[in-house]
Amino acid sequence: MNTDLIRKYNVPGPRYTSYPTVPFWEEQGITNKDWLRTLNRAFEESNATEGISLYIHLPFCEKLCTFCGCHKKITKQHSVEKPYIDTLLKEWTLYLEKLSATPRIKEVHLGGGTPTFFGVDNLKRLMEGVFEHAQLVDNCEMSFEAHPNYTTREQLKALYDLGFRRNSFGVQDYDPLVQKTINRIQPFATVKQAHEWSGEIGYQSINHDLVYGLPKQTLSNVIETIEKTRELKPDRIAFYSYAHVPWIKGIGQRGFDESDLPRDEVKRELYEVGKRMLDEIGYVEIGMDHFALPSDSLYKAMQHKTLHRNFMGYTSGKTQLMIGLGMSSISDSWYSFAQNNKTVGEYEEIVNRGEIPTFRGHLLTEQDLILRRHILNIMCHFETSWEEPGMEVAPLLEGIAMMNEMIGDGLLKVEGKKLTVTEAGHPFVRNICMCLDARMIRNQPKTKIFSQTI
Ligand SMILES: C[S@@+](CC[C@H](N)C(=O)[O-])C[C@H]1O[C@@H](n2cnc3c(N)ncnc32)[C@H](O)[C@@H]1O
Ligand code: SF4
Repeated sequence: MNTDLIRKYNVPGPRYTSYPTVPFWEEQGITNKDWLRTLNRAFEESNATEGISLYIHLPFCEKLCTFCGCHKKITKQHSVEKPYIDTLLKEWTLYLEKLSATPRIKEVHLGGGTPTFFGVDNLKRLMEGVFEHAQLVDNCEMSFEAHPNYTTREQLKALYDLGFRRNSFGVQDYDPLVQKTINRIQPFATVKQAHEWSGEIGYQSINHDLVYGLPKQTLSNVIETIEKTRELKPDRIAFYSYAHVPWIKGIGQRGFDESDLPRDEVKRELYEVGKRMLDEIGYVEIGMDHFALPSDSLYKAMQHKTLHRNFMGYTSGKTQLMIGLGMSSISDSWYSFAQNNKTVGEYEEIVNRGEIPTFRGHLLTEQDLILRRHILNIMCHFETSWEEPGMEVAPLLEGIAMMNEMIGDGLLKVEGKKLTVTEAGHPFVRNICMCLDARMIRNQPKTKIFSQTI
């Protein structure tokens, strides 16, 4: 890949799991009442037809991986499980009281932290408690994240019996030095065991998370990691760019410094070589940083143009309403976002007072809604169009006018009322979306808030 292009476009930028992105939410513009009004609107519009999505955040991990950018709480005390599950069930009840009918659930995802930190009894109590007052739609997609070091066969079996058919294992990199640097010793045999148990039990889709750009990671480490991944052949692979954001409070990225990180061009080479190897083994690139075998539903979603992107990354379809339960979870009613309190203590205290624990959010304007659709189209399908009435708004045209240099560099084409990202432009898709990000353009951040785009 062209090194000059990397140098030119490698700037801090959002990953666009939402628009507007969290730092540009107008928090003062949303009240709890607004959130509940839009929640009900989205519920009325979608519950009877498509159903709703549920995201449940299970934040605990036994050990800190020092590269991690997730909302988590490190503890070895399993006594935290019971009160946390009690609080989640209480929060769900608070939502049920607000909804006008029994929710029909189309999608459930348990994210973390480490969902498999929780024992079988608590996982069962959680899911049975949630399902007791809900209906599952046919082929409800149920998935969870798991750390191979902390996953037993019993947990995999119990989650399968509850209806889960997809899981995702954090792998990152198999090299011992990289693993030591990120404080995550995880032998291949452990991943293999958890992966093979999943296959034996009957899971239909297994994902592995790999990361490039980690401290002390070299090209041969990435090659070796993909060689080992090939042996297990997961259905999906997330090949994430390491997001270095040590200035974010509570994240805990430490134990290495910037000189341990691969330089820009080297980092991109790690991705390019990894991608080539994945292509050769039969994986297809889906949107940004994701790969799937053609037999997997994510690939089919890309083919049928139903691919969607939200706070969990790429999913095979859009739902109008996603309710997020648990510490730090973000709910999305399409017309608004609302985020729960980010510490376990405060989250539990607020819910146990009988209040929905959101502490910030954003009510989307008509313009936000249109820009959101364009940014989603670009992130999911590498194209967007404004032929349809109402899709042409001033910031879109202003953004297109800012793209002349990118067009000259061969990253995209604009023909009539249609924008198409070229193959060469795929690595720069975040930069392209940034031209349409009216909220960020209006309020240029004064300090660094995002990771680099490459
Ligand atoms: C919640 S963890 C997955 C489940 C489990 N906690 C584990 O680590 O195996 C989510 C994933 O986010 C990715 N991730 C975490 N921090 C990251 C960072 N700073 N940059 C890029 N990816 C990151 C990792 O690939 C990780 O597997
Ligand atoms: S990578 Fe996973 S296990 Fe490690 S700290 Fe982050 S959430 Fe926890």
